[in-house]
Amino acid sequence: MSTNCSSRSKWPMLSAISLAAVLVALLGLHSDSVAQVTKGKERPLTTKQWMQAVHKVHCGAIKKGLDAGPADDDAWAEIALHAAMMNESSHVLMADGRCPDGVWAGACKTLGQGSQAVLDAVADKDVEAAGKAFGAMTASCGACHKAHKK
Ligand code: HEC
Repeated sequence: MSTNCSSRSKWPMLSAISLAAVLVALLGLHSDSVAQVTKGKERPLTTKQWMQAVHKVHCGAIKKGLDAGPADDDAWAEIALHAAMMNESSHVLMADGRCPDGVWAGACKTLGQGSQAVLDAVADKDVEAAGKAFGAMTASCGACHKAHKK
């Protein structure tokens, strides 16, 4: 290590390097966040496909089941199946580098907690609590879509 390296020559060099690092990080973040929202980093599944195959289907089925009023154990079990799929989705949407920011992460947390509350209500066969939990779960849809659905 040279000891005659004056601060005058060292600092401009350092700030040029950190400026370059900041620029690279900003560019990297920008392109990443666009890719992350519509698709994960490694796996082929697009967010749109997941929404169509999982959210549309299972969220719709929970609503239909609750609106009809679950009449027997099979009907409750079916609601639990769809709620468990939505709960799993709260993890899938956080995986594979798909999450771009805190809004996304917060919506996933809401989705996870709301779907868990649906499952708890199903365990108690409590239609009213299930309806409330469903409302809490679906608050996640709008929260994420407002920020990230183009
Ligand atoms: C963490 C973020 C996030 C959450 C939570 C979320 N979505 Fe989405 N959703 C998206 C994004 C992003 C798109 C747009 C995907 C695209 O077009 O590339 C989308 C699109 C959709 C679409 C349109 C798919 C199409 O055919 O274009 C449906 C339907 C949908 N979401 C349903 C839901 C429902 C129902 C919920 C709540 C239970 C929900 N989503 C919660 C991120 C989210």
